Amino acid sequence: MPVIDPARIPSDLLPVVEALCATGAEVARIIARGPLGQALGAGVGENSDGDQQKALDVLADEKFEAGLRSAGVRFYASEEQEEVLSLVPGGKYAVAADPLDGSSNIDVNVTIGTIFSVFEAKEGADESFLRPASEQVAAGYIAYGPQCLLALTFGEGTQLYVLDPETGAFALAEEKMTLPEAAKEFSINSSNRRHWTAPVLAYVEENEAGAEGAKGKNMNFRWVGSLVAETHRILTRGGTFLYPSDARAGYETGRLRMVYEVAPMAFLVEQAGGLATDGVTPILSLTAEKLHERRPFVFGSRQEVERIAELHG
Ligand code: AHG
Ligand code: MN
Ligand code: MN
Repeated sequence: MPVIDPARIPSDLLPVVEALCATGAEVARIIARGPLGQALGAGVGENSDGDQQKALDVLADEKFEAGLRSAGVRFYASEEQEEVLSLVPGGKYAVAADPLDGSSNIDVNVTIGTIFSVFEAKEGADESFLRPASEQVAAGYIAYGPQCLLALTFGEGTQLYVLDPETGAFALAEEKMTLPEAAKEFSINSSNRRHWTAPVLAYVEENEAGAEGAKGKNMNFRWVGSLVAETHRILTRGGTFLYPSDARAGYETGRLRMVYEVAPMAFLVEQAGGLATDGVTPILSLTAEKLHERRPFVFGSRQEVERIAELHG
């Protein structure tokens, strides 16, 4: 039985998507065993950027690297690897990944995920990824939660699959996800309030004022700490997400990585009818200059993301 129904996958990309699905299913099984296997949340070192690496970060990275190599992928860029890895000479595609997103949630049985972005490979490793986000040919995330889900786009809508534990394959759940235009929820790490810029503070205060304020409606607040979980919730029932730049040292351009977090999520969100910006400018019009660069990230329901841009004046 194929690991995913090939019907809606461009044939050239099928081996890559199959490798991502097979690896995702394997990682899902490891996560499901939690402490019965190895200590997945144990600290094992630091990545090139000084982020703490947990056992599962490294394990997921190794598995995706191996899976993509067997699928003939030419270049692999990962949050856990300082440089782009050359896998298969002559391969058609270059894949960037956050192999394990939401590492702070590994030990607490809260949804974590894998994010990926696919480009057609160029001759050079770096130039395959340092290019306009609009040149992605596919993007997606796998969410390891109560269900293991795959959201996937090739630029013709965002598809949703569920890993069926009965068959071990990803089955189509939604042909075309639609992100609602209006929102009832917003997400931002409020512990950083004292470091925010004025427009971000203004947006949050507008939401907090609720029905009594200019917005004229109540807004609920959510923060999971896993971008994948947050994106899936927002794709499903609307809302906004902000990880803006703030005044802390090292957060001049926010926290999230352009190449393997921001760009693929922006592609998925826009293909579902939402908007994704750095606060003002659409992410898909931006070009990464460095592999691990960070970008402020705002996305979600169209009306809200437009309002946030307006507040940035
Ligand atoms: P990662 O686990 O890959 O480092 O990513 C964590 C990210 C993202 O999932 C989440 O939205 C954000 O970091 C949480 O940041 P704070 O800890 O600052 O809230
Ligand atoms: Mn991440
Ligand atoms: Mn990660």
